[in-house]
Amino acid sequence: MHLQRPVNEGFLILDYGSQYTLLIARRLREIGVYAEIIDGSRQTAPSDEFHYHGIILSGGPDTVGEEGARSLPSWVAQSDKPILGICYGMQLMAEASGGKLRSGQQREYGKSHLSFDWKDLPKYAETLKSLPKDQIVWMSHGDDVEAPDSSFATLAYTDDKVVGVIAHREKPWIGLQFHPEVQHTEYGEELLKAFVFDICKAPRNWDSSQMLDSSIERIRQNVGKGKVLMAVSGGVDSTVAAVLLTRALGASQVHAIFVDHGLLRKDEAKWVQEQFASMGVQLTTLDQKKEFYSELDGITDPEQKRKIIGRKFIEAFEAFAKGKKEFTHLGQGTLYPDVIESAGHGAGAKVIKSHHNVGGLPEKLALELVEPFRYLFKDEVRTIGRALGIPALLVDRHPFPGPGLAVRIIGAITEEKVRVLQEADAIFIRHLHDSGFYSQVWQAFAVLLPVKSVGVMGDNRTYQEVCALRAVTASDGMTAGVGDLPISFLVNVGNEIVRKVNGINRVVYDVTTKPPATIEWE
Ligand code: XMP
Repeated sequence: MHLQRPVNEGFLILDYGSQYTLLIARRLREIGVYAEIIDGSRQTAPSDEFHYHGIILSGGPDTVGEEGARSLPSWVAQSDKPILGICYGMQLMAEASGGKLRSGQQREYGKSHLSFDWKDLPKYAETLKSLPKDQIVWMSHGDDVEAPDSSFATLAYTDDKVVGVIAHREKPWIGLQFHPEVQHTEYGEELLKAFVFDICKAPRNWDSSQMLDSSIERIRQNVGKGKVLMAVSGGVDSTVAAVLLTRALGASQVHAIFVDHGLLRKDEAKWVQEQFASMGVQLTTLDQKKEFYSELDGITDPEQKRKIIGRKFIEAFEAFAKGKKEFTHLGQGTLYPDVIESAGHGAGAKVIKSHHNVGGLPEKLALELVEPFRYLFKDEVRTIGRALGIPALLVDRHPFPGPGLAVRIIGAITEEKVRVLQEADAIFIRHLHDSGFYSQVWQAFAVLLPVKSVGVMGDNRTYQEVCALRAVTASDGMTAGVGDLPISFLVNVGNEIVRKVNGINRVVYDVTTKPPATIEWE
């Protein structure tokens, strides 16, 4: 059993596969309302347990009306709730009302200029008038509404004469061809606020910092006198979850397990132990370095590395839990994006990397799951972490992949390569902290390349490996920009790495965004 949702009212987002669907939910929560994502092809209305003030239809890759394309479910078409259709969602709402669509004729990607005309603005949407008539919006579409049915008013066009905004003349249905959830849309937040607060009249009642007391209460109700085995990685999510569970149940009912697979950052295992001790959480570290290294010996394929590490994790847990009948629950720091992604909304999404570090653990251990953050985003978990008094150094840590340095040592892994990379990475991270850049990037790390280059140190020729530094900006890791670090800073870091780390004689900076690259190199 998972913990129930934190509140029973908010907004429903119907997902049609847009890469931005999660972003819509985040934006709504940021403006102060709770939102949940459900499959856009769901044919039945959600149960009465969740009171929704309005419905948002996401964008998506389909072309309305083509074979296999998702259509507007009848319970949505018949709903009396306000609806906001975004891109594909707008096209669905236009088609359901008899409008004419066209495909592939007016593609627009990126920034567009939009002009409003308020002449036909329906009464229920009067609030939109407070927005500037001319705006920059973010488009990402190949299809559009050529001519809406006469039951709709067209409120805005782009410079290319694409219908940008439509509103039903009677029902509170608004369609946007562009993406208000994307930061590049100048007045996106204002538009979402107008829909949520003025058109739907929803109360502003979501604030993740207030979730602490109710989360503690729900954990107590769920676990009772049981005992939780909690998998921790030293990262933000599982750390905050372990502290929250301990706060709710007491240290004797929560046992955190930390697997040291030998692919952690420099001195990480020791640091995690000290942090957990200072926060009063019971922690056992399982030293599995030898076992992991021996299984990874000679493995170069990234997916194979991930699979081996995932399996070894489970084996280490199983061995620890074996015969310990006192455990009733398994705690995990699963976040809402993990839940949505593994539920397969955004159907058709290709597996780029298998990220499920301890996937399969719940089935193997046959324990009940406790996932206090199942409905939360990472920034919301950070807010809870701060409210719990967890040190900023921990709460604001950069994400670190479950397979650790294994996916940052390109090619085969050896203990020596792990040591070399740990040293280089520690220098980079220390410089980032000292200069204040650490908090300005989403993630930063060093990568060890299986490439040797010639150098000269003193009067000697060197022939050693190349280290790549990577720093990215992101808000959720789905897309990423390149960290804008000054060249003088990078030169200092590079010099210190080459001077101090035996094994590296050249340092380069990765200047690729995601997409087309991913954040990690493997
Ligand atoms: P990519 O490399 O896919 O990374 O652009 C996106 C984010 O996910 C992290 N990442 C992982 N996290 N297990 C994890 O827990 C993994 O196997 C894994 N691979 C990548 C990555 O560090 C970035 O934050």
